[in-house]
Amino acid sequence: MSNAEQIDYWNGKVGETWVLMQERMDTALTPVTTALLAAANPQAGEYVLDIGCGAGETTLAVDAAVGETGHAIGLDISEPLLARARQRGEALLSEAEFIAADASTWADEQGFDLIMSRFGVMFFADPLAAFAHLHGLAAPTGRLVFACWQPAARNLWATLPLTALADLLPAPAPADPYAPGPFAFADAARLATILETAGWHDVACHSLPFAMQIGEGDDPIASAIQFNLRIGPAAKAVREAGIGDAAKSVLAAALADHVADGVVSLPGAIWLVTARA
Ligand SMILES: C[S@@+](CC[C@H](N)C(=O)[O-])C[C@H]1O[C@@H](n2cnc3c(N)ncnc32)[C@H](O)[C@@H]1O
Repeated sequence: MSNAEQIDYWNGKVGETWVLMQERMDTALTPVTTALLAAANPQAGEYVLDIGCGAGETTLAVDAAVGETGHAIGLDISEPLLARARQRGEALLSEAEFIAADASTWADEQGFDLIMSRFGVMFFADPLAAFAHLHGLAAPTGRLVFACWQPAARNLWATLPLTALADLLPAPAPADPYAPGPFAFADAARLATILETAGWHDVACHSLPFAMQIGEGDDPIASAIQFNLRIGPAAKAVREAGIGDAAKSVLAAALADHVADGVVSLPGAIWLVTARA
């Protein structure tokens, strides 16, 4: 099975939009990054692989943590996001390396002490084969730590805009819940089975609810509307239906209840997954 569809997807408009939204995404996902790095617990001298590193936030953080004797590699299939990651790395004088490759097939000689990801592992066409391949890249004492989304129903940041806009959008077509995409690993029992079958041990999926800050600045509601119309399930639906202007006033009303202390935050929930090789 090939990841060609995802390679096209992340090298097109979506990759460019994620570059534009890099700072906003990193702010929105700060609680996830903090929890991920705490669970990963990178040590000086370790060799680390960051899967689907995007614009590099977690790769750059982990490379700083492993110090000069360690090394972090960020892998991604998206050229626009990798360009942004390299630009950020240069500005920070970081030694982190960013490589354009499909993580399900990329080969490297040295065993990784830590394989990690912030939302970059849910897009494999064949997750079992991909995680078996990643297991082969780990050192015998290596560990796997990643964040993925719990079901959409526990992620109001994703469902609120779609619910608010339901009357303006065509009824959603039935979809395969396990298809590559943000919610592919929402079912923790299925995910644990995939990882164990792929060779990983002591698999645990820890539940982490958090508040996702999607709007800030002088006009936090306008900022949150922009976020919703650029990233997430509603962005695609609104674009395809061509209802951008109508969507803005509906979203403004729906988001008004979620402003506090000058920011718009919506509930989110992830699985923080840990395993050892
Ligand atoms: C939701 S984004 C997360 C990006 C980044 N980790 C972050 O948290 O901002 C998913 C990333 O996974 C990358 N990706 C998807 N499939 C991949 C694959 N097979 N190999 C490597 N990267 C992949 C995408 O290009 C994209 O950058």
